[in-house]
Amino acid sequence: MNNIKLPKILFVGGKGGVGKSTTSSSIAMSLSSGENPNKVLLVSTDPAHNLGDIFDVNFKNSITKVNENLSIIEIDSSLEAKNYVQQVAKNMRGFVSASSYGRIDDYFAKVADSSSTLEAALFERLTTILTNEANDYDYIIIDTAPTGHTLRLFFMPKELRDWSKTLLSMQERGGMSEKVLGHLEGGSKNRFSDPDGFIRGQLIETLDERYNRYSAFSNLVKDPNQCGIILVLNASKLAIAETQRAIQSLSQKGLKPYAIVLNKVLPTDSADDFLSSRIAQESEYVLQSDEIFRNYRYAKMPLFKQDIITKDSLKIFGDTLLKIINK
Ligand SMILES: Nc1ncnc2c1ncn2[C@@H]1O[C@H](COP(=O)(O)OP(=O)(O)OP(=O)(O)O)[C@@H](O)[C@H]1O
Ligand SMILES: [Mg+2]
Repeated sequence: MNNIKLPKILFVGGKGGVGKSTTSSSIAMSLSSGENPNKVLLVSTDPAHNLGDIFDVNFKNSITKVNENLSIIEIDSSLEAKNYVQQVAKNMRGFVSASSYGRIDDYFAKVADSSSTLEAALFERLTTILTNEANDYDYIIIDTAPTGHTLRLFFMPKELRDWSKTLLSMQERGGMSEKVLGHLEGGSKNRFSDPDGFIRGQLIETLDERYNRYSAFSNLVKDPNQCGIILVLNASKLAIAETQRAIQSLSQKGLKPYAIVLNKVLPTDSADDFLSSRIAQESEYVLQSDEIFRNYRYAKMPLFKQDIITKDSLKIFGDTLLKIINK
């Protein structure tokens, strides 16, 4: 699809089950097909991935081409975290006696499963993709896990950036801890000839690269021409409330969503008693949503007869959605 002007990077967030994967996949399908297709990368950061089911391919942890213009990756944060802490545990062995190896391995196995390690590992990979791969694509669409997770991804850069800076200044002050940190950061070659200098150099390089990458991500997120967030909801009290809270969190950082998608809207009438009653209940929330989100790009997407899992239905959904939010 062409003649569409969207930010290059789009995050899609919202409450569980509202249609985030459908929205992100359909936007990716739509942008990457038609007469003047764009090059699109679709990234899933949701640990409970389902793009593989939608596109019938196993994308685990590496960028895979679905066709000439569409590539997909499902980031496997537990694998990323495991690899990272395994490396750290291996390097730690250089500092302790052999009898402690078992305890080190146990400790790092536990750390690998912690939610903050998983999030940090996911973020590490995501920022690397956005930094290294961005030039290869016209658009990068990011399917996320339920709301809190999306917003944390969005807001993480400042915290991590500050943290990298603190580590950098600790490095400059020196001390024993730097040797350990240097080792944790992967200093190994040449460490016997000039351990301090080598480890210090390696660590500073790693932290510098990370600081720059996080700073770039932080600037990207703040630039509405380059990056936007689409919030998806359904016509229900809880989903409206959660979307309002997400908007509030974004506005505290001086940001606002690029668009709001009210998804799975029922038809306006039905001869069926059961459906009529559902429609009556929902219509109250549809009206509320129309009113609350009237100042945003706002798309109301109907509930399709079937789940949106075929490429054709994804394309129809995506084309319709993009036309509405680009009006
Ligand atoms: N407008 C729609 N009409 C019909 N089915 C839909 C519509 N939107 C989404 N669905 C279906 O609803 C289900 C949930 O959608 P989806 O997986 O996109 O939600 P999600 O927000 O990504 O969920 P999760 O929070 O679990 O990641 C899927 O089976 C999808 O095909
Ligand atoms: Mg999903």
